[in-house]
Amino acid sequence: MRLAKFLATAGVASRRASEQLISAGRVTVDGVTVTDPARDVEPLNAVAFDGEPVRQAPIRAVYAVHKPAGVVSTADDPQGRPTVVSLIPSALRLYPVGRLDIDTTGLILLTNDGELAHRLTHPSFEVPKQYLAVVTRPPVRDAALRALRRGVELDDGQTAPARVRRLAPDTIELTIHEGRKRQVKRMCEHVGHPVRRLVRVAFGELELGDLAPGAYRQLTAAEVDKLTSSGRAAGPV
Ligand code: URA
Repeated sequence: MRLAKFLATAGVASRRASEQLISAGRVTVDGVTVTDPARDVEPLNAVAFDGEPVRQAPIRAVYAVHKPAGVVSTADDPQGRPTVVSLIPSALRLYPVGRLDIDTTGLILLTNDGELAHRLTHPSFEVPKQYLAVVTRPPVRDAALRALRRGVELDDGQTAPARVRRLAPDTIELTIHEGRKRQVKRMCEHVGHPVRRLVRVAFGELELGDLAPGAYRQLTAAEVDKLTSSGRAAGPV
Protein backbone atom coordinates (compact mmCIF):
# COMPACT_ATOMS: atom_id res chain seq x y z
CA MET A 1 0.00 0.00 0.00
CA ARG A 2 1.21 3.53 -0.74
CA LEU A 3 2.48 5.42 2.27
CA ALA A 4 -0.08 8.24 1.95
CA LYS A 5 -2.91 5.71 1.81
CA PHE A 6 -1.42 3.89 4.80
CA LEU A 7 -1.54 7.10 6.86
CA ALA A 8 -5.04 7.93 5.64
CA THR A 9 -6.50 4.49 6.43
CA ALA A 10 -4.84 4.60 9.86
CA GLY A 11 -6.72 7.84 10.49
CA VAL A 12 -3.74 10.23 10.65
CA ALA A 13 -5.12 12.66 8.05
CA SER A 14 -6.89 12.70 4.69
CA ARG A 15 -4.99 11.23 1.75
CA ARG A 16 -4.07 14.73 0.42
CA ALA A 17 -3.01 16.00 3.84
CA SER A 18 -1.00 12.82 4.41
CA GLU A 19 0.90 13.47 1.17
CA GLN A 20 1.83 16.91 2.49
CA LEU A 21 2.95 15.51 5.85
CA ILE A 22 5.16 13.01 4.05
CA SER A 23 6.64 15.65 1.72
CA ALA A 24 7.37 17.77 4.80
CA GLY A 25 9.60 15.00 6.14
CA ARG A 26 7.44 14.19 9.19
CA VAL A 27 7.03 10.49 8.42
CA THR A 28 9.54 7.67 8.85
CA VAL A 29 9.49 4.09 7.62
CA ASP A 30 11.60 1.69 9.66
CA GLY A 31 13.31 4.71 11.24
CA VAL A 32 14.22 6.40 7.95
CA THR A 33 12.53 9.64 6.82
CA VAL A 34 10.58 9.11 3.60
CA THR A 35 9.38 12.06 1.54
CA ASP A 36 7.80 10.14 -1.32
CA PRO A 37 4.04 9.71 -0.67
CA ALA A 38 3.93 6.92 -3.30
CA ARG A 39 6.48 4.80 -1.47
CA ASP A 40 5.05 1.27 -0.94
CA VAL A 41 4.78 0.00 2.60
CA GLU A 42 3.93 -3.48 3.86
CA PRO A 43 2.06 -4.33 7.07
CA LEU A 44 5.38 -5.33 8.63
CA ASN A 45 7.02 -1.90 8.07
CA ALA A 46 7.22 0.36 11.15
CA VAL A 47 5.68 3.68 10.15
CA ALA A 48 5.88 6.71 12.46
CA PHE A 49 4.47 10.25 12.22
CA ASP A 50 6.33 12.91 14.23
CA GLY A 51 8.04 10.01 16.02
CA GLU A 52 4.74 8.33 17.07
CA PRO A 53 4.06 4.83 15.71
CA VAL A 54 1.17 4.67 13.25
CA ARG A 55 -0.76 1.41 13.34
CA GLN A 56 -3.30 0.06 10.92
CA ALA A 57 -6.33 -1.72 12.24
CA PRO A 58 -5.35 -5.40 12.08
CA ILE A 59 -5.85 -6.69 8.56
CA ARG A 60 -7.80 -9.89 8.36
CA ALA A 61 -6.87 -11.96 5.35
CA VAL A 62 -8.51 -15.20 4.27
CA TYR A 63 -7.35 -17.08 1.18
CA ALA A 64 -8.72 -20.09 -0.65
CA VAL A 65 -5.94 -22.29 -1.99
CA HIS A 66 -6.07 -25.30 -4.28
CA LYS A 67 -3.57 -27.54 -2.53
CA PRO A 68 -1.69 -29.74 -4.96
CA ALA A 69 -0.45 -33.22 -4.02
CA GLY A 70 3.01 -33.27 -2.40
CA VAL A 71 2.41 -30.03 -0.47
CA VAL A 72 2.00 -30.17 3.31
CA SER A 73 -0.75 -28.23 5.04
CA THR A 74 1.30 -27.06 8.02
CA ALA A 75 2.86 -23.60 8.31
CA ASP A 76 6.41 -25.06 8.52
CA ASP A 77 7.78 -28.43 7.66
CA PRO A 78 10.85 -29.76 9.51
CA GLN A 79 11.52 -32.01 6.49
CA GLY A 80 11.65 -28.99 4.16
CA ARG A 81 8.73 -30.05 1.96
CA PRO A 82 6.71 -27.29 0.26
CA THR A 83 3.93 -25.90 2.46
CA VAL A 84 0.57 -24.38 1.50
CA VAL A 85 1.67 -21.19 3.22
CA SER A 86 4.61 -20.86 0.81
CA LEU A 87 2.16 -20.77 -2.13
CA ILE A 88 1.00 -17.26 -1.10
CA PRO A 89 3.44 -14.34 -1.24
CA SER A 90 2.16 -12.34 1.74
CA ALA A 91 3.86 -10.42 4.52
CA LEU A 92 1.07 -11.55 6.87
CA ARG A 93 1.51 -14.51 9.16
CA LEU A 94 -0.89 -16.96 7.56
CA TYR A 95 -1.67 -20.44 8.72
CA PRO A 96 -3.86 -23.23 7.39
CA VAL A 97 -7.41 -23.76 8.64
CA GLY A 98 -7.34 -27.48 9.45
CA ARG A 99 -5.33 -30.03 7.51
CA LEU A 100 -5.36 -32.09 4.37
CA ASP A 101 -3.11 -35.13 3.98
CA ILE A 102 -0.06 -34.63 1.78
CA ASP A 103 -1.61 -36.62 -1.07
CA THR A 104 -5.08 -35.02 -0.75
CA THR A 105 -5.71 -32.16 -3.14
CA GLY A 106 -8.31 -29.43 -3.20
CA LEU A 107 -9.66 -26.58 -1.16
CA ILE A 108 -7.85 -25.38 1.95
CA LEU A 109 -8.21 -22.01 3.63
CA LEU A 110 -5.39 -19.89 5.01
CA THR A 111 -5.88 -16.99 7.38
CA ASN A 112 -4.11 -14.81 9.92
CA ASP A 113 -7.25 -14.74 12.11
CA GLY A 114 -6.98 -17.33 14.86
CA GLU A 115 -10.55 -16.84 16.02
CA LEU A 116 -11.90 -17.45 12.55
CA ALA A 117 -9.74 -20.57 12.19
CA HIS A 118 -11.14 -21.85 15.49
CA ARG A 119 -14.71 -21.11 14.37
CA LEU A 120 -14.20 -23.05 11.17
CA THR A 121 -12.43 -26.10 12.62
CA HIS A 122 -13.91 -26.71 16.07
CA PRO A 123 -16.13 -29.83 15.80
CA SER A 124 -18.96 -28.20 17.77
CA PHE A 125 -19.65 -25.79 14.87
CA GLU A 126 -20.12 -28.71 12.47
CA VAL A 127 -18.91 -26.88 9.37
CA PRO A 128 -19.49 -29.28 6.45
CA LYS A 129 -16.57 -30.33 4.27
CA GLN A 130 -17.23 -32.02 0.95
CA TYR A 131 -14.89 -34.52 -0.73
CA LEU A 132 -14.73 -36.51 -3.93
CA ALA A 133 -13.15 -39.91 -3.36
CA VAL A 134 -12.03 -42.20 -6.16
CA VAL A 135 -11.85 -45.62 -4.59
CA THR A 136 -10.52 -49.10 -5.31
CA ARG A 137 -12.58 -52.26 -5.78
CA PRO A 138 -15.52 -50.74 -7.68
CA PRO A 139 -18.41 -50.77 -7.87
CA VAL A 140 -19.34 -49.15 -4.57
CA ARG A 141 -22.58 -50.87 -3.63
CA ASP A 142 -25.65 -49.42 -1.96
CA ALA A 143 -24.87 -51.24 1.29
CA ALA A 144 -21.52 -49.42 1.53
CA LEU A 145 -23.20 -46.06 0.85
CA ARG A 146 -25.79 -46.77 3.53
CA ALA A 147 -23.10 -47.68 6.07
CA LEU A 148 -21.18 -44.46 5.34
CA ARG A 149 -24.40 -42.45 5.69
CA ARG A 150 -25.29 -44.04 9.02
CA GLY A 151 -21.75 -43.75 10.42
CA VAL A 152 -19.06 -46.41 10.76
CA GLU A 153 -17.14 -47.58 13.81
CA LEU A 154 -13.51 -46.43 13.51
CA ASP A 155 -10.78 -47.00 16.08
CA ASP A 156 -11.44 -43.51 17.50
CA GLY A 157 -15.21 -44.01 17.65
CA GLN A 158 -18.35 -43.94 15.51
CA THR A 159 -18.47 -41.35 12.73
CA ALA A 160 -21.41 -38.96 12.59
CA PRO A 161 -24.01 -39.43 9.84
CA ALA A 162 -22.62 -38.26 6.50
CA ARG A 163 -24.17 -37.21 3.21
CA VAL A 164 -22.97 -39.65 0.56
CA ARG A 165 -23.69 -39.97 -3.18
CA ARG A 166 -22.26 -42.30 -5.81
CA LEU A 167 -21.17 -40.33 -8.87
CA ALA A 168 -19.59 -43.24 -10.77
CA PRO A 169 -18.93 -46.92 -9.94
CA ASP A 170 -15.59 -45.92 -8.36
CA THR A 171 -16.35 -42.33 -7.27
CA ILE A 172 -18.30 -41.06 -4.31
CA GLU A 173 -19.06 -37.62 -2.94
CA LEU A 174 -19.01 -37.41 0.87
CA THR A 175 -19.94 -34.51 3.08
CA ILE A 176 -18.79 -34.73 6.68
CA HIS A 177 -18.61 -32.16 9.44
CA GLU A 178 -16.05 -33.82 11.65
CA GLY A 179 -12.37 -33.35 11.01
CA ARG A 180 -10.65 -36.44 12.35
CA LYS A 181 -7.29 -37.52 11.04
CA ARG A 182 -7.55 -39.37 7.69
CA GLN A 183 -11.26 -39.61 8.32
CA VAL A 184 -12.55 -40.06 4.78
CA LYS A 185 -9.83 -42.56 3.92
CA ARG A 186 -10.56 -44.58 7.04
CA MET A 187 -14.32 -44.49 6.43
CA CYS A 188 -13.89 -45.74 2.87
CA GLU A 189 -11.40 -48.41 3.96
CA HIS A 190 -13.90 -49.54 6.56
CA VAL A 191 -16.52 -50.27 3.91
CA GLY A 192 -14.01 -52.15 1.74
CA HIS A 193 -12.98 -49.39 -0.69
CA PRO A 194 -9.57 -47.87 0.06
CA VAL A 195 -9.22 -44.39 -1.47
CA ARG A 196 -7.06 -43.93 -4.57
CA ARG A 197 -7.56 -40.18 -4.89
CA LEU A 198 -9.15 -37.63 -2.57
CA VAL A 199 -10.11 -34.06 -3.44
CA ARG A 200 -11.81 -31.56 -1.13
CA VAL A 201 -14.31 -29.70 -3.27
CA ALA A 202 -16.06 -27.51 -0.70
CA PHE A 203 -15.55 -26.06 2.76
CA GLY A 204 -18.77 -24.73 4.28
CA GLU A 205 -20.47 -22.68 1.60
CA LEU A 206 -17.25 -22.13 -0.30
CA GLU A 207 -16.55 -24.26 -3.37
CA LEU A 208 -13.19 -25.08 -4.98
CA GLY A 209 -14.71 -24.18 -8.37
CA ASP A 210 -12.18 -23.70 -11.15
CA LEU A 211 -9.24 -22.63 -8.98
CA ALA A 212 -6.25 -24.37 -10.60
CA PRO A 213 -3.90 -26.60 -8.56
CA GLY A 214 -1.40 -24.37 -6.75
CA ALA A 215 -3.51 -21.24 -7.33
CA TYR A 216 -5.06 -19.09 -4.61
CA ARG A 217 -7.43 -16.18 -4.25
CA GLN A 218 -8.32 -13.83 -1.42
CA LEU A 219 -11.88 -14.16 -0.17
CA THR A 220 -14.16 -11.15 -0.15
CA ALA A 221 -15.69 -9.94 3.13
CA ALA A 222 -19.04 -11.31 1.94
CA GLU A 223 -17.51 -14.75 1.36
CA VAL A 224 -15.92 -14.71 4.82
CA ASP A 225 -19.30 -13.77 6.36
CA LYS A 226 -20.94 -16.63 4.51
CA LEU A 227 -18.26 -19.03 5.75
CA THR A 228 -18.75 -18.02 9.34
CA SER A 229 -22.47 -18.69 9.03
CA SER A 230 -21.79 -22.26 7.79
CA GLY A 231 -22.53 -25.06 10.22
CA ARG A 232 -24.13 -24.63 13.63
CA ALA A 233 -24.55 -21.19 15.13
CA ALA A 234 -23.50 -22.26 18.60
CA GLY A 235 -19.97 -23.11 19.51
CA PRO A 236 -18.61 -24.86 22.56
CA VAL A 237 -20.45 -24.14 25.79
N1 URA B 1 -10.01 -37.14 5.10
C1 URA B 1 -8.87 -37.80 4.80
O1 URA B 1 -8.81 -39.02 4.92
N2 URA B 1 -7.82 -37.09 4.38
C2 URA B 1 -7.85 -35.76 4.19
O2 URA B 1 -6.85 -35.17 3.78
C3 URA B 1 -9.04 -35.07 4.50
C4 URA B 1 -10.11 -35.78 4.96
